[in-house]
Amino acid sequence: MTNDTLTITDNRTGRTYELPISYETINAMDLRQIKVNDDDFGMMSYDPGFKNTASTKSTITYIDGGKGILRYRGYPIEQLAEQSNFLEVAYLILFGELPNQTQYDDWEYRILHRTFVHENIKKLMQSFRYDAHPMSMFISTVAAMSTFYPESRDITDEATRMKQIIRLIAKVPTVAAFSYRNLRGLPYVYPDNDLSYSGNFLSMLDKMTEVNYEPNPVLERALDVLFILHADHEQNCGTATMRVIGSSHSDPYSAMAGAAGALFGPLHGGANEAVLRMLTEIGDVKNVPEFMEGVKNRERLLMGFGHRVYKNYDPRARIIKMIADQVFEVTGPNPMLDIALELERIALEDEFFVSRNLYPNVDFYSGIIYQAMGFPVAMFPVLFAIPRTVGWLAQWVELLNDSTQKIARPRQIYLGEGERDFVPMGER
Ligand code: CMC
Repeated sequence: MTNDTLTITDNRTGRTYELPISYETINAMDLRQIKVNDDDFGMMSYDPGFKNTASTKSTITYIDGGKGILRYRGYPIEQLAEQSNFLEVAYLILFGELPNQTQYDDWEYRILHRTFVHENIKKLMQSFRYDAHPMSMFISTVAAMSTFYPESRDITDEATRMKQIIRLIAKVPTVAAFSYRNLRGLPYVYPDNDLSYSGNFLSMLDKMTEVNYEPNPVLERALDVLFILHADHEQNCGTATMRVIGSSHSDPYSAMAGAAGALFGPLHGGANEAVLRMLTEIGDVKNVPEFMEGVKNRERLLMGFGHRVYKNYDPRARIIKMIADQVFEVTGPNPMLDIALELERIALEDEFFVSRNLYPNVDFYSGIIYQAMGFPVAMFPVLFAIPRTVGWLAQWVELLNDSTQKIARPRQIYLGEGERDFVPMGER
């Protein structure tokens, strides 16, 4: 017996079990042998919210939450944000290595020439109400895309899979931009394949009567960096949803609609929207102390703070804070920034936040930049979903290629009634 084991003594029976440890982890199924008698189902672990359960082995994204480290395929997020671009990072995340020039050119061409959507997708989106939330439109449209590409249900064929991956990465900016134009009551703008990925997105958002739309290079680069920062984040709520749905061998559109639905929630990708609503409600730096008292009295959360994994400054928040200045030089300052900086200043000194390791997360500053760029708050989760498409798809492929993966199906501890006889209506 090696030392890489865990010895468990069941005090109910006095029996001792030796469980193997690999990667600092025990296999939950090894607990099942721990029984009081032969009829016993066996021991399970209870872990609401999967706080301490690894559901997969992965080679895509590494996070050290204590040290504030984030790497895609081994490359530090800071280097990628400074030296790479979103499509290159997308290639890296999906295929595991940085592309050479030929591979990059081919990849970029394939993405930028799949940006148009079927006209019926446009019509479908136009049929939403004028005030439809753009994220709800995004989720529904991604789900509806499975009806346009029925071959996508063949998830075992690698070439078919790759076709959907390219389609999705290419078309999500178009769907996102259409949802924005719907909100604004403006005609939808078709993609311009001569522009970069983020430049084309800006064009579809802003273009009016210009023949050739020229994106502002600072905003184009800022958006591209924001896309890099949001591309993947290992087993978060949305990605775990992608994997759970993917594990039943659904098509990628259905799985991604579910993942985007998870992302929409205010505790996840909807947090940047919640941050802006919170800052607007605070309204002025002088109201910050009173607001913070409310947080400490547990009347509300400080949105954009705290993270399941990071117990240190989120490295993405640090990068976003840096690019904010460049954006504000173009757009003019966002008055919300002063309120955010004051909230952060207090939180980083206050015992309540310090003792709980609550630091700004990615959503704390991203919304302020998005707002300065002219996006309505309702667009924020959509802006998160565009780049996260890459992470979702990379994790989906990893799942499908992992022969140890099974359909996701957690257990429960049943605490309800025992068997009882049906009572007719008149006797209740
Ligand atoms: N404001 C005030 N208190 C907080 C906050 C917050 N934002 N976040 C956590 N806490 C407290 C929480 O009340 C608890 O205190 P105690 O131990 O005394 O009961 C302690 O800190 C630990 O929190 P938790 O809820 O057990 O932590 P969690 O890992 O389950 O939740 C979280 C993580 C991100 C859901 C949570 O921090 C939160 O709700 N934050 C606000 C929403 C937010 O900004 N979400 C974006 C996350 S990053 C981007 C993304 O995932 O998409």
